[in-house]
Amino acid sequence: MTGDVLLSVEDLTKDYPWGLLWLKHKRVLHGVSFSVSQGEITALLGHNGAGKSTTFKILMGFLRADGGRVLYRGEPLSRKARSYIGFLPENPAFYDYLTGRELLRFTAELFSLKRFEGRIDHLLRLVKMEEAANLPLKKYSKGMVQRIGVAQALVSNPELLILDEPLDGLDPEGRQILRNLIVDLKEEGKTVLYSTHILQDAERISDRAVILVKGKTVKEGRIEDLLGGETSEYEVSFKGLREAPPGAKGRWQLRGDTLYGILEKEEEVQPLVQECLRRGGQVLSLVPLRRTLEEIFMELKDESNGSRG
Ligand SMILES: Nc1ncnc2c1ncn2[C@@H]1O[C@H](COP(=O)(O)OP(=O)(O)O)[C@@H](O)[C@H]1O
Ligand SMILES: [Mg+2]
Repeated sequence: MTGDVLLSVEDLTKDYPWGLLWLKHKRVLHGVSFSVSQGEITALLGHNGAGKSTTFKILMGFLRADGGRVLYRGEPLSRKARSYIGFLPENPAFYDYLTGRELLRFTAELFSLKRFEGRIDHLLRLVKMEEAANLPLKKYSKGMVQRIGVAQALVSNPELLILDEPLDGLDPEGRQILRNLIVDLKEEGKTVLYSTHILQDAERISDRAVILVKGKTVKEGRIEDLLGGETSEYEVSFKGLREAPPGAKGRWQLRGDTLYGILEKEEEVQPLVQECLRRGGQVLSLVPLRRTLEEIFMELKDESNGSRG
């Protein structure tokens, strides 16, 4: 059912071998934990090197974790459960001389599917690639490669899609098409887990976000809860006043003939507006300023730098 936990990732750790003869180990995941609910879009957010791809490779079974566990519908993630997961790797590279349609046919044959032409037509429509379906992949733009890659990940009709940086390297239009596609997947009933370091994209389309900093989950929650919280501010603007009333809290600035104020507390807003009106001002706007993920991210990064001394 929508909202049920589909995937739980619990305290994953991972060491990569390195150094002379790979005798040393470097820990890149230090405790990655999060859950993915059915029918939702979950963003795994983190800067380059945070451990997003490593986490996905463990989920897909390409790498073995050194600690922690992954549950799928409450059971340890098995080979069978992995057959319900579709995957788009980071920077996918396909056979240059196949056409988009041939790539999807090839994939359907790998999965031993029968009578798949109808499904392939549907997928080509879904990813808006009908027109380019018969062009060789080497003629595709980066955005087209990502879209055919999403279609390929969908061939086996998985219930969960894991997309590693699907928006990376795309121009604004390409990003918008991909964002819309991710939302369309949700509307098709799919659950989507994708990674990105582009926070604005995550804010627009995700239900939940998981923030990774240096191989560790530092925050997880619904987008609106991550963005809400005690530090949201209010911006007010007035005409007809040159300065804030004496004793007014907040930060104030006169730009042209408009006076702008930023207030930190909701309870400051009403008395301030009344006082400004009493002094002959006119309210132009009152806007609650939501925190952006970018701000949350910067704070978390500062905290994690601080804790390392
Ligand atoms: N095969 C590997 N061998 C050694 N170190 C690796 C390997 N793959 C990734 N790393 C390191 O692990 C860390 C996490 O990388 P990655 O999971 O690719 O992060 P992200 O996808 O968030 O950019 C980085 O420091 C990266 O250099
Ligand atoms: Mg990566």
